[in-house]
Amino acid sequence: QGKLETRIPHFQSEELGSLSDSMNEMASQLNRRIDTIVQQRNEREAILSSLAEGVLALDMNEKVVNYNTKVLELLEISDENIIGKSVQEIVRNNELHDFIDSILHGIENEEKDLHFKLSSEKYIAVYGTILINHENKKIGTVIVLNDITKLKRLDKIRRDFVANVSHELRTPITAIKGSVETLLDGALDDSESARKFTQIINRHTSRLISIVEDLLSLAKFENESVLHTMQFETENLFNIIELSVLAVEQKSTAKNIKILLECDKELTIHAQHKYLEQAIINLLDNALKYSDNNTTITIQAVRKTDKTTISITDQGCGIPSNHLPRLFERFYRVESARSREMGGTGLGLAIVKHIARIHNGNVEVHSTPNEGSTFSIHIPH
Ligand SMILES: Nc1ncnc2c1ncn2[C@@H]1O[C@H](COP(=O)(O)OP(=O)(O)OP(=O)(O)O)[C@@H](O)[C@H]1O
Ligand SMILES: [Mg+2]
Repeated sequence: QGKLETRIPHFQSEELGSLSDSMNEMASQLNRRIDTIVQQRNEREAILSSLAEGVLALDMNEKVVNYNTKVLELLEISDENIIGKSVQEIVRNNELHDFIDSILHGIENEEKDLHFKLSSEKYIAVYGTILINHENKKIGTVIVLNDITKLKRLDKIRRDFVANVSHELRTPITAIKGSVETLLDGALDDSESARKFTQIINRHTSRLISIVEDLLSLAKFENESVLHTMQFETENLFNIIELSVLAVEQKSTAKNIKILLECDKELTIHAQHKYLEQAIINLLDNALKYSDNNTTITIQAVRKTDKTTISITDQGCGIPSNHLPRLFERFYRVESARSREMGGTGLGLAIVKHIARIHNGNVEVHSTPNEGSTFSIHIPH
């Protein structure tokens, strides 16, 4: 009856006695073997279910013989038990079916990155290998699935970044090269042309320097080990704001834009002076760049119980709401052509975001097209 732990009592007669002994010995051996098998099965299942990869074992008819729960999660299979079902039934993806087919009937080990359109887009690296029985006969396949969506996304960000940087650097370099060639072609002999082209070279060289400096700042803010060495001190906020306004004075005077300060002169903040100043300068620079002449910019600093907020409000062109979610991304510009014409690379706000973040704070924007924008940096105490 399968009750292997029950033992036959020991008989006194010699024959029956040894028979009962060996029966008991057999029962305990069998019991030990079953224990070992159960233990091995539990171990195997524990290993399978703790894997970060999905595992799917199929027979030669592409029917599921074993799997782990990660597979259900990865492929978004709602079915609780898929044993015995064919893979076509449970996943709709031709690439995966072709892949399994090639493992079962052709190439015996293969690796491939597959694209899945599930509740979201997913990239899954699949690795397939053939299953062989003790007679060396093919009996199926084991497919291991690994979610590489995040890796693919990071790789795309990296490639976009390199493409963007190259593109931004090419514009000034082309202008410099063109001017140098014109100078060499004879413009150098005419002092007025020489001056004109040297000024172009000068302007574009400054532009190159500012792009490279912005990129270096970003790289620094993204480097964890540099962040740990940063010194934060109690600073006079009014003083930081005044210095920022001074840094953009030339531009504000040129456009006759008034900058109003609404900040208590005694207000202090726990911050990294140089970086906070840079963030305010970047926001002021935008406010000036994207506002018409003779308008007003207001800088307000308010200390609340839990944080200090520095807001910069302009009466400029404003930003359509559909652009707001991506505004703080590197290289993002609302009107690419227009803002590049104004000497914009699209790194300014990405730097502001990082500076707010290293102060454990954040930056926020409210904007109405044709009326103006307010950018606020919140820094917790
Ligand atoms: N105050 C503002 N008013 C209107 N549009 C703005 C304002 N600030 C930023 N923007 C928009 O957001 C985009 C991104 O700003 P960001 O400062 O990152 O880049 P940029 O000013 O173009 O170049 P950079 O600051 O690197 O020289 C700008 O191109 C512009 O379209
Ligand atoms: Mg800017």
